[in-house]
Amino acid sequence: MTTLRPVIRKLRGMPASDGAGVKLVRVIGTPQLPDLDPFLMLDEFGTDRPEDYLAGFPSHPHRGFETVTYMLDGRMRHKDNHGNEGVLVPGSVQWMTAGRGIVHSEMPEQEQGRMRGFQLWVNLPASEKMTAPRYQEYGPERFPETEVSPGARVKVIAGEVAGVTGAIAQPATDPTYLDMTLQRGARFEQALPAGHSAFAYVYEGAARFGDGEAAAEGAKGELLVFGPGDRVAVQGLGDGTRLILVAGRPLREPVARYGPFVMNTQAEIRQAFEDFQAGRF
Ligand code: FE2
Repeated sequence: MTTLRPVIRKLRGMPASDGAGVKLVRVIGTPQLPDLDPFLMLDEFGTDRPEDYLAGFPSHPHRGFETVTYMLDGRMRHKDNHGNEGVLVPGSVQWMTAGRGIVHSEMPEQEQGRMRGFQLWVNLPASEKMTAPRYQEYGPERFPETEVSPGARVKVIAGEVAGVTGAIAQPATDPTYLDMTLQRGARFEQALPAGHSAFAYVYEGAARFGDGEAAAEGAKGELLVFGPGDRVAVQGLGDGTRLILVAGRPLREPVARYGPFVMNTQAEIRQAFEDFQAGRF
């Protein structure tokens, strides 16, 4: 028998500014939700105003975790100190394992129009924090939409849905990352490993999660955190509801965090500063 996961928290993100002044909404990584192990941060960026994004994210370091960028609209050029460079177009995903360190920039490749997407930070276990940096980066053609039930379409970025496996894999946290579009009344159930942290973030329309009296509704801009169980049920409440559904295995390790460095101890954070300043990234 399987158990439907209840919604145990519902909250909204808070307006924030990062990089050289990019306006965004921080959903995870705030005082009310500092993290959701193994997820350290979730930012939604979405604006039609170039002045909100043009400044971009000039050169900055990362060590000890992964940054996952999912572009919905707009184009973003990334470039790092190991010679990697590329442009993220709408529908593409970059799963960057920073490992022992990279220094990169993420800058808009457009001067007008809409820029929209998500950046998720995923922690790495102690044993992999100093791994060699690597990218899993794919264009939209690698994330086809699958109709999983009438009126419910899913893009599988990571994990498995109805026999479709996402292009991205990370054994350390075994993530599921789905982008779903639901028409009114469309219902879909997804198995998620028991014990994995799991959340949904509604970014258009509204949806109902769960069944019967335990059901909870989430509207645009709301994050819903799921409790124990091994599957979630979701139903569209309007036409064109869109949400991401994300889950991953918690690491249950101490987190020492300072800006773009996420390690296990303060000594490792100090080492990260030293290594960065000495050009060892
Ligand atoms: Fe970055």
